[in-house]
Amino acid sequence: PGPTALDMAKAFTKVRADPLTFLGEVRDEFGDVAAFPVPGVPALLLSDPVDVRHVLQTSARQWTKDTVQYAALGRITGNGLLASAEPSWMPHRRAAAPAFHRQRLAVVSEQVVGATDDALRAWDTGPLGGAREVEVSHLLAGLALDVVGRTLFGSDLSPHAGRLLDATSEAAVLVVRAGRSIVPIPARTPTPLNRRIRAARREFDALSHLLIAERRRSTAGQATSGDDLLGLLLDGGLTDDEIRDELVTMVIAGHETVAAGLTWTLMLLAEHPAIQEEVHEEAAGLTGPPPLMGADAAAPVTRAVVDEALRLFPPAWAISRRSSLPDLIGGREVPAGTLAIISPYVLHRHPRLWDDPLAFRPSRFHDGIEQRGAYLPFGAGPRLCIGREFALAEMVVVLTRLLAGHQFTTPPGWTRPFAEARVALHPRGGMTLLVGGRGRT
Ligand code: HEM
Repeated sequence: PGPTALDMAKAFTKVRADPLTFLGEVRDEFGDVAAFPVPGVPALLLSDPVDVRHVLQTSARQWTKDTVQYAALGRITGNGLLASAEPSWMPHRRAAAPAFHRQRLAVVSEQVVGATDDALRAWDTGPLGGAREVEVSHLLAGLALDVVGRTLFGSDLSPHAGRLLDATSEAAVLVVRAGRSIVPIPARTPTPLNRRIRAARREFDALSHLLIAERRRSTAGQATSGDDLLGLLLDGGLTDDEIRDELVTMVIAGHETVAAGLTWTLMLLAEHPAIQEEVHEEAAGLTGPPPLMGADAAAPVTRAVVDEALRLFPPAWAISRRSSLPDLIGGREVPAGTLAIISPYVLHRHPRLWDDPLAFRPSRFHDGIEQRGAYLPFGAGPRLCIGREFALAEMVVVLTRLLAGHQFTTPPGWTRPFAEARVALHPRGGMTLLVGGRGRT
């Protein structure tokens, strides 16, 4: 049965306050194919791996990204890979793909280590010896942004880091607001929201144009513009505006997600000292940092910890698609225009799909369990995250580097920060942990 107007009104209030809990409640109450109360369009929350695979993989051609959520993101990222529902997506994905190939990970490994060691130095310059309280989420966002700059744009973003981090936080708030508007307001109307979106865009535009101009200057007269992402895009026949959209996409998609993933991982390790000890021992036993290529094999315990943290706190907490044609979902006909909402957060905590779903138990990933359609922190199908391998390896390398010499504990009177569903799943008010050096007082 479809939701009533009263359901919609109630849902609107609940979604604003706490979308994650609300999504979970809808699934609990209405099951794995649940009519979701969205005004104006038939919408389904899908929590059966078979339907999830159908939408994201098997019938991906008809289930497109033509959704309100991606239109809202597109207000900031333009037609970049993440938000694009256009035919331009395929050639752009092809142009960008070599920057993320596993072979290239070997090359960028040192850059990730460099960025991590720089971040660690910043932690160690505090006035107090021993353990001290550190708000880790902001530091990790800076680190992840640094990695994007070094590895994908061949550029030191540190002079722009403050502004970029602020612009990303601002964009996260604006995208959520724009995605929630019930009455679509044209982008040109000078509402306060539209003005703020334009201001955020200007920040990103300025940086992209600077990066493009710098690269053109430094490689003038050479055969190629470089084998990192920026070089590939410049040589790939994209216009400057198209390159701008891809760069902004990578800044936003490439650092907030990784930073959020690392933040929740550190929290879980601080809460589970015995597991943290295992990661520490593995990290301390490595002769050097694991190379990005093969990081999983070099540090299997750390990799399982990352997988499990991304299960409990998937930074990309919801994925949406819209059907361009009628289809069959869960044996029932759905009309063209149906919105599908797939929530990795809900799926990853589904009691039918996971044993003891709320427990942090990295060992469940040790044996390469079969999770097709039930585990999708990076999505699935043709629109699978282009940065998946890169992000996983980056997280493993950063964690081994952090945990080899540091210990993370929860401060006295610990309560978990509220998991706020922004563009990424974000700890509201940050994540303050006690960080101590190992082997020092
Ligand atoms: C797509 C999650 C890191 C760039 C996606 C999607 C998810 C995701 C779920 C699919 C969205 C959908 O199907 O609607 C994550 C998570 C990350 C991460 C959890 C880190 C833990 C990265 C990094 C980059 C990146 C490091 C780049 C530097 C992208 C792009 C897309 C994408 C460009 C769109 C791909 C396409 O449609 O062709 N990501 N991502 N992501 N991600 Fe990631």
